[in-house]
Amino acid sequence: MEKFVPVVVIKELSETDKILSALKKSGIFCAEITFRTPCARDAIEYACKNYPDMFIGAGTVINAQQCSAALDAGAQFIVSPGLSVSVAKICKEKNVPYYPGCVTPTEIMQALELGITTVKFFPANVYGGLKALKALSAPFPQVKFIPTGGVDRSNIDEFLAFDKVEAIGGSFFVKEAIEKMEEKSNG
Ligand code: 3PG
Repeated sequence: MEKFVPVVVIKELSETDKILSALKKSGIFCAEITFRTPCARDAIEYACKNYPDMFIGAGTVINAQQCSAALDAGAQFIVSPGLSVSVAKICKEKNVPYYPGCVTPTEIMQALELGITTVKFFPANVYGGLKALKALSAPFPQVKFIPTGGVDRSNIDEFLAFDKVEAIGGSFFVKEAIEKMEEKSNG
């Protein structure tokens, strides 16, 4: 997984270029396009075709149907807010990385049983942040986390400093990248 995983919500397919080029300009070559909008599948397909230098995945995948649609569109990784056994099975079969949301020891144990050792920790700010990650790492030293949800410039560095943090997810990457791009074009 890339170090930074921008959580992308594409409302209209036509916004895809603006968002992905802003991310690229800010040095981020990854995008988790979320299944929260009707055009998510098409946006993933468009992104995979037109941005072959980027690692494009699908987020907010909550069932097998969305997972299959995302993979069909070319998604290179799948992220869920929680853990879905059916999504995990499809991803394993297709050999595509799956990052389920896990915040409790039971959920982490379920992920391990499915052969998954990197999980999304979501919503990170609500479920105890770095303190919780450190506590969970004691019984699960083999697990890596992608804290997401409430992560921003004010706390990203403390998460990055912890060696069990594989990557950081967040919508703030998109916001920042677009702001930077607009500043440049205005100035
Ligand atoms: C997600 O689905 O990962 C979250 O909505 C991202 O949370 P954030 O907007 O607080 O970064």
